[in-house]
Amino acid sequence: MTALVEVKGLDKVFGGVHAVEDVNFSVEAGKVYSVIGPNGAGKTTLLNLITGLYTPTKGEIRLGDESTARLTSNQLAERGMCRTFQHMQVCMNMTAIENVMLGLHLRFNSGLLATLFRLPSMRRNEALARERAAQLMDYVGCGDYLASEASAMSYGALKRLELARALAVDPKVILLDEPAAGLNATETAALEELIRKIAEQGVTVILVEHDMKLVMGISDQLLVLNYGRVLAEGTPEQISQNPDVIAAYLGG
Ligand SMILES: Nc1ncnc2c1ncn2[C@@H]1O[C@H](COP(=O)(O)OP(=O)(O)O)[C@@H](O)[C@H]1O
Ligand SMILES: [Mg+2]
Repeated sequence: MTALVEVKGLDKVFGGVHAVEDVNFSVEAGKVYSVIGPNGAGKTTLLNLITGLYTPTKGEIRLGDESTARLTSNQLAERGMCRTFQHMQVCMNMTAIENVMLGLHLRFNSGLLATLFRLPSMRRNEALARERAAQLMDYVGCGDYLASEASAMSYGALKRLELARALAVDPKVILLDEPAAGLNATETAALEELIRKIAEQGVTVILVEHDMKLVMGISDQLLVLNYGRVLAEGTPEQISQNPDVIAAYLGG
């Protein structure tokens, strides 16, 4: 079985900081693969490397049978890789559904969505995009906000809206950077259910998350980073019993 995402000997150095050092792992298609570790461990840097925002100092990343070295973030998205960010990226001066439609511009091959809104010949695409965006909002549990401004939504709903926008490209793999940060227990439970639903439909999930209950409940496999290096890898059960992990991360 070939891996969907494979990371080999990955290094990223910023000035004097070795943010990611000799990291190796592979993620099988259809799995939930989580990356945990203390603040500054290199988790976000790792996601930025995988999604093409950063260039590795050393090492290789493969998506399917292709090296991603020469691919931009947009080209990776076209190949089915998408992500959400640690800090919310919602346009508050737009409606909720327009935010999701932003995620669709890749699929409609139209460069900027602005074009899609303006040209009369693109009206049909706009109608299709709106319909698809509405389906995605329903899917993530934001169906009540179809006519809302983004600014009228609760924080938990906005986090799910970002997922709807990421799902717009029909991804093979979705990378989530601390999606539960700032959510209350009810919102986190809704998010967990949503991530599970996304994985069950066959989308591979790479999850960076601090909420241990969420991570332990949802992951097939876990990677623990510490100071940029791999401290441990294993199932949630293996990780929760690993003495190095307990000492370094889970608080002894
Ligand atoms: N763009 C950058 N420029 C310089 N240093 C960075 C940059 N991004 C991250 N770092 C450094 O790399 C290390 C890992 O950061 P990060 O990947 O954000 O960790 P995490 O997401 O696990 O909290 C930290 O020491 C951080 O200061
Ligand atoms: Mg981070």
